[in-house]
Amino acid sequence: MKAFLLYCLIIATVSTFSYGGILSSVEDYFWRDYTGILPNDALPGGIDSNGSTTYIAQISIPSLWDPTRSTVDVLPAILQAGAIIVYAPYNATVVYRSASNSSVKILCSSNPRDYQWYSTTEMLSPFHKYVIVGYEASSPLYAGRAVIHNETVTGKIFANDRDAGLIVAHNGTQTHQYSYKVLTYAP
Ligand SMILES: *[C@@H]1O[C@H](CO)[C@@H](O)[C@H](O)[C@H]1NC(C)=O
Ligand SMILES: *[C@@H]1O[C@H](CO)[C@@H](O)[C@H](O)[C@H]1NC(C)=O
Ligand SMILES: *[C@@H]1O[C@H](CO)[C@@H](O)[C@H](O)[C@H]1NC(C)=O
Ligand SMILES: *[C@@H]1O[C@H](CO)[C@@H](O)[C@H](O)[C@H]1NC(C)=O
Ligand SMILES: *[C@@H]1O[C@H](CO)[C@@H](O)[C@H](O)[C@H]1NC(C)=O
Repeated sequence: MKAFLLYCLIIATVSTFSYGGILSSVEDYFWRDYTGILPNDALPGGIDSNGSTTYIAQISIPSLWDPTRSTVDVLPAILQAGAIIVYAPYNATVVYRSASNSSVKILCSSNPRDYQWYSTTEMLSPFHKYVIVGYEASSPLYAGRAVIHNETVTGKIFANDRDAGLIVAHNGTQTHQYSYKVLTYAP
């Protein structure tokens, strides 16, 4: 009887533990449809030249990298508050999409305090994960941001090509930045 009770206690402890573990490993960021109205749980991304907060949008475009397969690239884009047009760096140029006639999503979270921008030289604690904001040429894309003049510009980092740095759309052109921070998530 004692052995049986002990067995029950162990099972109960193990299931509570793994249940908690499963819950806490679920990312709490998500993408809402953006139609021109800013959701109040949108995660702030950068700062534009007017000093206004920008957000991280997501757009999908037919992949240029492998036109033989019907794949899409999913890109993080810059969304200025209230704007209907978002833009992203892609294939050495800047692509624009309008929320009035294509699908634009916006990065949101119910726990904004769990998100931090880390410099690439800082040690990342094991609890922090990079936030995946898209896929391009079959590589996950992380979100990064760099300070350019008086702006904080968000862009993308190829998970499988970190040497390319942070790729941003700025002043209508694509540029690579090598001093930047990466968006992390720690539950
Ligand atoms: C800054 O504000 C001006 C005036 O409201 C506007 O015309 C311009 O597009 C804004 N620029 C940016 C980068 O948001
Ligand atoms: C940022 O710099 C631009 C160009 O120098 C200037 O027009 C703008 O007013 C500045 N914005 C802020 C918020 O200081
Ligand atoms: C990028 O665009 C150029 C045209 O500007 C095109 O020739 C090239 O094939 C494109 N790159 C890829 C990987 O599709
Ligand atoms: C979508 O809207 C934008 C801005 O109004 C326009 O420039 C673009 O041509 C439109 N695209 C399509 C496919 O209608
Ligand atoms: C932005 O681009 C224009 C040309 O497209 C250029 O004349 C201007 O100097 C650029 N501004 C900055 C701040 O790079």
